[in-house]
Amino acid sequence: MTSPIRTERHDNVLVIISDNPPVNALGQAVREGLADGIAEALADDSVEAIVVRCDGRTFFAGADITEFGKKPQGPNLPEALDKLEASDKPVVAAIHGTALGGGCEVALACHYRVAVPSAKIGLPEVKLGLIPGAAGTQRLPRLVGAQAALPLVAIGDPISAKAAKAIGLLDAVVGEDTLEADAIAFARSMVGKPVRRSSEGTANQDGVKNPAIFDDFRAKYGRKMRGFDAPNAAIEAVKAAGESSYADGVSKERELFGKLMTGSQSKAMRHYFFAERAANKIDDVPKDTPLIAINRVGIIGAGTMGGGIAMNFLSAGIPVTILEMKQEALDRGTGVMRKNYENTAKRGRMTAEQVEQAMGLLTPTLEYDDLADCDLVIEAVFENMDVKKQVFGKLDEVVKPGAILASNTSYLDIDEIAASTRRPGYVVGLHFFSPANVMKLLEIVRGEKTRDDVLASSMKLAKKIGKVAAVSGVCPGFIGNRMLSKRQEQANKLIMEGANHWDVDDVLLDFGFPMGPFQMGDLAGLDIGWHRDPSKVTTVREALCAAGRFGQKAGKGFYDYDEARQRTPSDEVKHIIADFAESAGNEQREISKEEIQERLLYPMVNEGAKILDEGMAQRASDIDVVWINGYGWPLHTGGPMFWAQEVGLGTVISGLEKHDLPVSDYLRTKAGAGNAFD
Ligand code: 3HC
Ligand code: NAI
Repeated sequence: MTSPIRTERHDNVLVIISDNPPVNALGQAVREGLADGIAEALADDSVEAIVVRCDGRTFFAGADITEFGKKPQGPNLPEALDKLEASDKPVVAAIHGTALGGGCEVALACHYRVAVPSAKIGLPEVKLGLIPGAAGTQRLPRLVGAQAALPLVAIGDPISAKAAKAIGLLDAVVGEDTLEADAIAFARSMVGKPVRRSSEGTANQDGVKNPAIFDDFRAKYGRKMRGFDAPNAAIEAVKAAGESSYADGVSKERELFGKLMTGSQSKAMRHYFFAERAANKIDDVPKDTPLIAINRVGIIGAGTMGGGIAMNFLSAGIPVTILEMKQEALDRGTGVMRKNYENTAKRGRMTAEQVEQAMGLLTPTLEYDDLADCDLVIEAVFENMDVKKQVFGKLDEVVKPGAILASNTSYLDIDEIAASTRRPGYVVGLHFFSPANVMKLLEIVRGEKTRDDVLASSMKLAKKIGKVAAVSGVCPGFIGNRMLSKRQEQANKLIMEGANHWDVDDVLLDFGFPMGPFQMGDLAGLDIGWHRDPSKVTTVREALCAAGRFGQKAGKGFYDYDEARQRTPSDEVKHIIADFAESAGNEQREISKEEIQERLLYPMVNEGAKILDEGMAQRASDIDVVWINGYGWPLHTGGPMFWAQEVGLGTVISGLEKHDLPVSDYLRTKAGAGNAFD
């Protein structure tokens, strides 16, 4: 087998080049080739400087994740990099694309780093439940200081070339099209000078002089890191970089890395990494399906969802025409969008100019004819089949042939909506989640007649606007809400049987969800779908609405809220629930946290199994993608279906049986056949 690494001579400079598509992951063959390339350069006296670069779309994007959990083979990366750094001949990393994880560590082991302006650099290992394992936690703080290293190592978001230059991670930003030549020139300019090794840097002393930076960091990012092991290990490793010798710091990193690699969180997060990428593929849609170009989008309805959906496209530079029934609603909707953008600008995440740019791409209208030229129209009007059919009927008349017509419905039958047009093949569900400009998930609902090009184009579009897509078949609530309804059903029953609603919420918070079902109800508004007749009370929710307890927006719902939106249980709600339980003749009992968790989560797994059995989801891992991105299922458990496998499908079944809950045949079959869904 030919090596993915080759070398090229440019007079006194040896260029070591990796060509390992798609992302130059540092698999065994690459590590071996890299070690050989370094040995070649060091052995040849006529070589005076070395450049390391990659072919293809990116510099090394990290270790090869497919090798994780398997027996290590070939040269290990830390040792190869130590040899590279030890060279007395200057070594320059020439970076394009994304230098991530092990790739960033290769760059750190080089004496100098140059990159093109579009390059991104980072250590995303925490997103896989890990920390860098090739001395990244030790070299980086010595080069740029603990303060600058902390977010890179413990949060894991990559930074731009410009930002990397500003903190001293890069030595130069070079021409976008002249990377190799500029890197070679840079390397030559360093010949004869003493090399600068990251491992010998002293910038890490900022954390020793001012240890408060670690506490401040924890205070700032504590919420984001809640429940995850890796960020704490990352902070510990960066701290060790200041307090220990380089060799001791590297040992500390190895110890922490090893523990995380064999732990349950990293296993789950690695599962998720591949799940997200698998979800992007539709098994029976050919890869080369021609795409429909989407250059202008229409949105019907400028309410909660329509406005948020529109913002996704505006932020991606795609013009949007938004339609409402009345001027007042149109003004209100566009006003909310502007305010949202302005708030983002206030927080420093957007410039005033970018706000104007985005809003400048928006055309508000009351006329359907203005949608004629749209390539995609997304309907986000009231959740009512008759209204939806009417809207689609009109769209069918005015929008150009070949355009995609999508519905954001949460529950309704996409096939029935499609049948109200003469082009059912062009109808698809694009189910965004609230707030639509923030939540990452896009459920793409495939109707019976939805064409391949419509699906493929929807997938591509999702990526363009920064969403994570998963495909669902047509069934009430699709994948996400269908499973949610099972959880809600049990939550409602639990409070009728004696569980406190705050205990139900707290069980899910402890599990790692950002909020529980009753907090979620308060946040969304308990009056959604309410009939607005206070005299008609048949459920706890209706009783709360009748008492003006509409949720957070009213300052009270299941909880009372103070000005900082902190929740406290309310006596009024306790009485409402107790009255309902009494009139239903429900016996009250103490319910353990264990029972609450089992009754909330196991029925979701059972429903997930039914969804798979019916072919409504392509694979179990797609369900994990839906729940992690749409409903805050904790990433470090890998999603409901992966988690169920880790718990053991047999345990899930006996839990369901213990609580007299239904068990699907599919779940039983999978439990009996190797405890694996996919
Ligand atoms: N190992 C193995 N395969 C990888 C990989 C990696 N590090 N990174 C990406 N791939 C694969 C993907 O699974 C995908 O395969 P598929 O086509 O069969 O589905 C293919 O490469 C293309 O990936 P994307 O679809 O993600 O391509 P994008 O262009 O959207 O993104 C990327 C490119 C930004 C590089 C993105 O793939 C990415 O973020 N990769 C992971 C980076 C990472 O986490 N690196 C750290 C690894 S851990 C490490 O380095 C430990 C070290 O400290 C010792
Ligand atoms: P909303 O009530 O906030 O907004 C609906 C908007 O549509 C209103 O501004 C209304 O004036 C407008 N409208 C109604 N009929 C119209 C018509 N014929 N032509 C033009 N405009 C019309 O409702 P929301 O919450 O935005 O929901 C919209 C859709 O999105 C529903 O199908 C809902 O199920 C779905 N959805 C809602 C989510 C949520 O959390 N609110 C989440 C995901 C989907």
